[in-house]
Amino acid sequence: MPSILPDGEPAPADGALPPAALEGAAERAFGVYVHVPFCVTRCGYCDFNTYTAEELGPAPGASRATYAQAAIGEVRLARRVLSAPTAPVSTVFVGGGTPTLLPPADLGAVLRAVEDEFGLAPDAEVTTEANPESVDRRYLDELRAQGFNRISFGMQSARPHVLATLERRHTPGRPQACVAEARAAGFDHVNLDLIYGAPGESDDDWQASLDAAVAAGPDHVSAYALIVEDGTRLAAQIRRGVLTAPDDDVLADRYLRAEETLSAAGFSWYEVSNWAREESARCRHNLLYWTGGDWWGIGPGAHSHVGGVRWWNAKHPAAYAERLARGVSPAQAREVLDAQTRMVERVMLELRLSGGLDLGVLDEVGEAAAGRAAADGLVVAEELAAGRVVLTLRGRLLADAVVRDLLGWGSDLVSSAS
Ligand SMILES: C[S@@+](CC[C@H](N)C(=O)[O-])C[C@H]1O[C@@H](n2cnc3c(N)ncnc32)[C@H](O)[C@@H]1O
Ligand code: SF4
Repeated sequence: MPSILPDGEPAPADGALPPAALEGAAERAFGVYVHVPFCVTRCGYCDFNTYTAEELGPAPGASRATYAQAAIGEVRLARRVLSAPTAPVSTVFVGGGTPTLLPPADLGAVLRAVEDEFGLAPDAEVTTEANPESVDRRYLDELRAQGFNRISFGMQSARPHVLATLERRHTPGRPQACVAEARAAGFDHVNLDLIYGAPGESDDDWQASLDAAVAAGPDHVSAYALIVEDGTRLAAQIRRGVLTAPDDDVLADRYLRAEETLSAAGFSWYEVSNWAREESARCRHNLLYWTGGDWWGIGPGAHSHVGGVRWWNAKHPAAYAERLARGVSPAQAREVLDAQTRMVERVMLELRLSGGLDLGVLDEVGEAAAGRAAADGLVVAEELAAGRVVLTLRGRLLADAVVRDLLGWGSDLVSSAS
């Protein structure tokens, strides 16, 4: 799919936004993402913006110990930039990296700053990602007491050899134990992340992972096809022939297995890679991303979007902290989204939702493509007749190809359940 992200224009030093971006902000839902860029080791498949202690070295301002203060500095800057009234924050999502490498009090201090500056909606969803080996019951109790009410554990697989290939550090039973501990600590919502299609994973391995995830009792499961990212150790191992890349047909079968197992267990899909037990268990923060909402991304490399302006921060924790210490915005570059880009993004994101895409968003070429997709069994014909483009199960396997067709980019109908 063609990249829709240009290099961007330089962001102003004070972080100011064009006045048009702030218009109507008080009427739009507002979320905050906090990126914690630290991991104990880097998993072989991961190219997220995260650093081990060794990689960071003694760089000033880049340590875990000073991270919360830098992040709070950006929260205060965000309040100054968003001078117009905003809606109280409806979702906060702390992701990584490994947020749970920080003490709960540090994560709580950033949350308090968000609350002090913007206010939290009374029913705000407050999530953190957590690595299973990095928490215990006491840690989870403290996190809950700091105001977190949703937690997402990176389980990935129940099989030791798959975890070893992925270079994950936790033991196979630990994520399931984490779910029980999080429930006992009083978290309202608990997610498990799974990855399918790792080299050497069999159908039985994947089924065992799904069964173990369901048995653990989360109310949300995310299942992602393994993406072989350039520059990772996994990509190098595949290039050298040490490991074999996942095959599209195998990935499609694994996706169907996920849908079958999760729906039999009472989960329903609401985005191609996400299933929830009930509507209240859907991740409202991610829904904000997928429906073009406003969010401020705090932290190194974090992306933000407010009123059609998107910007992204300096990537390295030292560069990020240094800018804030100088009173300069950590934003490195930005782009003002034009109507065409916004339309393309809307199609790419909303088509992946169970509620689908409003047919009115498409031009004539797209409408004709939607008709063909219905005839091919890729979108639901009754929904299309009612003005919505909603993927069928087969359409979910081919979501990227359907998007290309709707946008008039040509379709090669390659399996794309990721
Ligand atoms: C970046 S991690 C951050 C949270 C936490 N450190 C963890 O690993 O669970 C968020 C999710 O992205 C997944 N992820 C990262 N790289 C991926 C890849 N190349 N393909 C599929 N999923 C990936 C992780 O496995 C994890 O479930
Ligand atoms: S623990 Fe999570 S963020 Fe860290 S390297 Fe592994 S997948 Fe990436």
